[in-house]
Amino acid sequence: MRIDIITVLPELLESPFAHSIMKRAQQKGLLEVYSHDLRQFTTYAHAQVDDYQYGGGAGMVMMPEPLIRAIEHFQVERTYDEIIYMTPDGERFEQKVANRLSMKGNLMIICGHYKGIDERIREHFVTMEISIGDYVLSGGELAAAVVVDAIGRLLPGVLNDETSALFDSFQDDMLAPPVYTRPADFRGWKVPQELLSGDPKIVDAWRFEKALERTQQRRPDLLED
Ligand code: ADE
Repeated sequence: MRIDIITVLPELLESPFAHSIMKRAQQKGLLEVYSHDLRQFTTYAHAQVDDYQYGGGAGMVMMPEPLIRAIEHFQVERTYDEIIYMTPDGERFEQKVANRLSMKGNLMIICGHYKGIDERIREHFVTMEISIGDYVLSGGELAAAVVVDAIGRLLPGVLNDETSALFDSFQDDMLAPPVYTRPADFRGWKVPQELLSGDPKIVDAWRFEKALERTQQRRPDLLED
């Protein structure tokens, strides 16, 4: 999978993909992530990419021309399955959305700033709008990093058996069960017997029961459907 991110702050997106699982995914050639500086695509003086909004009001709006020049520049080389705009008024990003996006080939992600991007880009170029939650970030970059990370770890071959995404919270509309590691007795707090039983049936049944219990307590909404 290839992901091109268009941003006014490419340096903000250097670190999130340079470590751990995202780093390995790229080293294995399973994921390519590129951050592109929107200012390289403006023809305005002083690398301007935003302007006052029509109708008045506080806050700048990202101008259409630099964005279109950037989008069309990358579209010459490849077709994008989705052109995603990160925005608090987009579709809520959930595991199901991550699963769906992980099956695509090429994605473009546009990070907004200030009051957002000119509506005409949303109408005519953007194919999907994503929010990572009901709060407003100062820009779309951190939200884009969340989306890329959630998608990247789902790509076949990125996780090994031990870290398999199949057992994540949300994959079965349930939260994950509690987990334990050594020692089996820590300050008198013991690991549940079922996990030490060595019997996969007992272990699975315990995990299912605890996952259900945790979901009922913390996120009953997940069980409603
Ligand atoms: N940009 C600013 N806030 C955001 C959010 N909650 N989700 C996605 N993009 C954003």
